[in-house]
Amino acid sequence: MARGASAATAPIIPTRSGRAPWTLRRRLVVAVVGLLALVSLVIGVVSVAILSANLMDGLDRQVESAAERSSVAFGGGRPTGADFNIGTPTASKVLNGPSQPPGTLALVYDGSTVTTGYTDDTGTVVALSNDQVTQLLTELDAAVQEGSTSVPFTVDLGSDVGEYRVLAQAAPTGALYLVGLPVSSVTGTATQLALVIAVVSLAGIVLVAFLATAIVRLALRPLQRVTATATRVSELPLDRGEVLLVDRVPLADTDPRTEVGRVGSALNRMLDHVDIALETRQASENKVRQFVADASHELRTPLASIRGYSELTRRSGQELPPDAIHALGRIESESVRMTGLVEDLLLLARLDEGRELEREPVDLTRLLVDVVSDAHAVGRDHSWDLDLPDEPVLASGDGPRLHQVFANLLANARVHTDAGTRVHVSLTTEGPSAVVTVTDDGPGIPENLRATLFERFARGDSSRFRGTGGSTGLGLAIVQAVVLAHHGEVMVDSRPGRTSFRVALPLA
Ligand SMILES: Nc1ncnc2c1ncn2[C@@H]1O[C@H](COP(=O)(O)OP(=O)(O)OP(=O)(O)O)[C@@H](O)[C@H]1O
Ligand SMILES: [Mg+2]
Repeated sequence: MARGASAATAPIIPTRSGRAPWTLRRRLVVAVVGLLALVSLVIGVVSVAILSANLMDGLDRQVESAAERSSVAFGGGRPTGADFNIGTPTASKVLNGPSQPPGTLALVYDGSTVTTGYTDDTGTVVALSNDQVTQLLTELDAAVQEGSTSVPFTVDLGSDVGEYRVLAQAAPTGALYLVGLPVSSVTGTATQLALVIAVVSLAGIVLVAFLATAIVRLALRPLQRVTATATRVSELPLDRGEVLLVDRVPLADTDPRTEVGRVGSALNRMLDHVDIALETRQASENKVRQFVADASHELRTPLASIRGYSELTRRSGQELPPDAIHALGRIESESVRMTGLVEDLLLLARLDEGRELEREPVDLTRLLVDVVSDAHAVGRDHSWDLDLPDEPVLASGDGPRLHQVFANLLANARVHTDAGTRVHVSLTTEGPSAVVTVTDDGPGIPENLRATLFERFARGDSSRFRGTGGSTGLGLAIVQAVVLAHHGEVMVDSRPGRTSFRVALPLA
């Protein structure tokens, strides 16, 4: 259904497809959080690596001093007790030696027998499995072969014992031995540090995410105000009438030293230009309107004179040649038509000026009865029916103008359809409106005319009266202008075989 009111204000919004893009706020927050996470990760990895290296160095020193302390069991170093120089050296002698920390591991091979073990947390010596012993012996052998006896290295003794940092030594007695300390103390500390860094970083990231969201929101608030101004202006009907374009971006958001301020001041400048352009347009429109109104008004009197004189001459009773009588008849009928045209133009010009119409209760029931019977009198070869409610329906408005509206619609249903067409007029109430429909089963409004139907001088080519000058194309323009001036609505729905105009007017 085509609406009478112009649709030129409809905003042209390009349709967008695909995923919604990220907002600036989201992008900034994600960037800040991402960078912080990256920096935290680098700091964490570097710290843990440096700490591990330092602790490992410390462990190596401890292993070396444990090995040094063990040497007394083999008769080397400073003798601190008679016990250590007595008998064959064994792992337990090494482990029970002076100030060996719990967890110390020892393996002693005196050429024929191998003794091994490590102390647990309580200081008890625990034996190693055969596999572990074999592994240690292999490592010891390799170290001796390579001559790297005084360089600590790491041995993995399986999940129950864990990794050990060990040092292979050759005793002056010829015995070979290994002394080691668990790596778990180093890895434990490093893991702890990694955990602390991770937890602190995570907390920091969450905090920064919240803060960044708040800060960005605050920083973008001026942009929101600029957007709000632009949106408000975009919702104004700028295409017609007097426009009061007073909305501007607040002064605080137009500081050209900030990015948003530049947008704000550019928008304000643009609004100033648009305001001036609209004022100029309105002024020139008013001038044209005034001219049309004045011209129409001025034309009324001479037209009345022409009509009067021609009528007078025709009826004067003097003998006139038939050609002259015909010419006078034409002058008279054309001046009648021109008067109608001038009246229509004057009415449109006045409605355009926004001149207030009368506001009084108009009995639509009665008005429609009059209009339909007039149409019936003129259009005898059409069939007319009127459907009225039981109660009278009163609309608030200007009686003669409303009469003109329905007379125009019925005239259209008469002149733009063939003889025998059925025209149905109905009146109902819908909520706060009185609704009048004028429906005919004629050929319908030409396709090419539908978009501009309510525009001035829009008329169909097939109009029967066009050739004779009976049709001006102002009828529906007046219908729309009068209905809009009544704050009503006019719509049309037309297809071959059914054309329906629907006029809604506020009830009195
Ligand atoms: N009921 C209808 N059926 C078919 N065509 C119609 C109907 N009403 C209007 N039209 C078409 O719409 C055009 C515009 O109508 P409008 O009333 O504005 O002008 P007009 O009737 O041509 O001239 P005017 O009413 O000023 O004498 C008409 O010329 C006609 O082609
Ligand atoms: Mg008409």
